[in-house]
Amino acid sequence: MSKPVIDLSEIYKPHPRQQLAHSAVEQNVLYGGGVGGGKSWWLCAESIQLSLDYPGNRGYLCRQKLTDFRISTLLDLKRYLTATVIVQDRGKQEIVELITQHHQTENYFKLYNGSIIFYGGLGDDQGGLSRLKNMTLGWYGIDQIEESTEEQWAWLQTRLRLQLPNIHYKALGSANPAPGWVKQKWLVDKPEDYVFIPALPRDNPYLPKNYESNLRKSLPVEMVSALLDGNWDAIEGGNFVFSWQELKDASVREIVPEGDVYMGVDLAWGGSDENVAVIRQGNKVLALERWIYRKEDAADSITKITQLINQWNIIHKNVTIDAISGGALVYSGRKKLNYNVTPFVAGETADDDIHYSNRRAEMYFQLQKRLHEGSIHIPNDRDLIAQLASIKYKAPQGEKKIQLVSKEEMKKEGGHSPDRADALAMAFYTGQIKNPQIRWL
Ligand SMILES: Nc1ncnc2c1ncn2[C@@H]1O[C@H](COP(=O)(O)OP(=O)(O)OP(=O)(O)O)[C@@H](O)[C@H]1O
Ligand SMILES: [Mg+2]
Repeated sequence: MSKPVIDLSEIYKPHPRQQLAHSAVEQNVLYGGGVGGGKSWWLCAESIQLSLDYPGNRGYLCRQKLTDFRISTLLDLKRYLTATVIVQDRGKQEIVELITQHHQTENYFKLYNGSIIFYGGLGDDQGGLSRLKNMTLGWYGIDQIEESTEEQWAWLQTRLRLQLPNIHYKALGSANPAPGWVKQKWLVDKPEDYVFIPALPRDNPYLPKNYESNLRKSLPVEMVSALLDGNWDAIEGGNFVFSWQELKDASVREIVPEGDVYMGVDLAWGGSDENVAVIRQGNKVLALERWIYRKEDAADSITKITQLINQWNIIHKNVTIDAISGGALVYSGRKKLNYNVTPFVAGETADDDIHYSNRRAEMYFQLQKRLHEGSIHIPNDRDLIAQLASIKYKAPQGEKKIQLVSKEEMKKEGGHSPDRADALAMAFYTGQIKNPQIRWL
C-alpha cells in the first residue's frame, strides 16, 4: 500500500510563527502571549498532525471548561470534518474522509487511520476525566492553559504512556499572558524539554484589519501590554475584577433565555456619560439600550424606561436603577416614574459586609462569580467588554474588605465612565434592598 495523499492546505496554511511552533522538537510546547495570534488554529492543526504521524494515536484536546471548549476550540477542530484522504490500494484509488466519526456524546473524533482525538473540560467534565483515568495517551493539548492548574497538567503528564512505534509524546498549551504557574514554568524555570514560542496578533496576517487597533483603543493599558504586546508581567498586581478571556467567552456563549426578566439602568449625570439599560432573561442578556443624555430633559429617560418595562413585560421590582441618578430624575420635578422599582445605592453597606466595603463591590464580585462559573451570556459589545475589563478592585494592606476603584476615580484617571458595565452588573445583581422608602422613583 503506498502512502496516502492528504492535502489540508485548503483548511490550514500556517503563518511563519505557527510554523515555528509546529516544528518545535521539545515535548512540552507553550504557544502564546497574545490574543488572536493563531493559537487555537495551531493547536487543532497539531492535534490532526500528531494523529496522522502515528496511526492509532490517542490524544486529548481540552480547555478548563467543556462549555468554553465547545464554543471556541471545538469549532476550529470541526473545520477538519470536510477533509479527505486519497488512499491507494493495489492500484486502486479511493477517497475516504479524514475524520470518519464525530461522537458527540462521548466527545471524540475518530480518524481514518484509527487515531482518536478525545476532547473535554479539565475542570468540569467528570465523565470524560474518569474515562481518561483508564487510558494512556500519546499527546494532549490545553487551549488557554492559564485557566488550568499545574496539578491538572502534572496529572495529564502521567497519561503519556501510549505504546506506538517511534512515538514522540507531545504536551501542548496555548495561553494569554497571566501571572501564575504557566509563566513560572515556561518563561522563568524553563525545564529541559519545555519551550515557549511567542504568539502575537501582529504575527497573524489573517486577522481582520482593525482587530488590533480597535483593541488598543479600548482596553486598559495593562491589558494592551499583556494581550497585544505579549508582556507577561503587565497584569501582575493589576487587580482586575474580570479577565479578558472570560468576558470574551461570555459574549459568544449560547444560553437559552429562561425565567424572569430583569433590567439594570444607569442614568447619565452629565458630560459624556450615556444612559444605558441592560435587559436580561435568566442568564441571557436580551438587549443593551442606550440613549443620549440631555440635561434639560430627564423626562425623556422616564419615558424610555417606561417603554422598556412595557416592551419586555418586566415586573417592576426587577428593575434596578442607580439611585443617585434615579433620584436626580425625581428631583427634576418634571415627571415621576411611579413604579415600585429597586434603587441601587452604590455606597450603601453590602449584604455581605464582612467581605465587601459597599454594595457596588458586592455587585461586581457577584458578577465575577457568574463569569467564573461560565453561567451567563453578555452582549458582544466592544465598549461594554472594555468597560468591564477596566473594573479594578483595591487591596490596601490590612484591609479585609474588598473595595472597588470608584466610577469617579476611574473618570479622574482619564478612563471611560463604565456606564454600560454598571447597567449590566445591576441587571444581574440580586441584593437585599435596605431602603424601601426610596423605592418609589
Ligand atoms: N493559518 C491560518 N490561516 C488562515 N487563518 C488563520 C490562520 N491562523 C489563524 N487564522 C485566523 O485568525 C483567527 C484567530 O486565530 P485563532 O483563533 O487561532 O487565534 P487565537 O490566538 O486562538 O485567538 P484568541 O486569543 O481569540 O483565542 C482565526 O479565527 C482565523 O480566522
Ligand atoms: Mg483561541
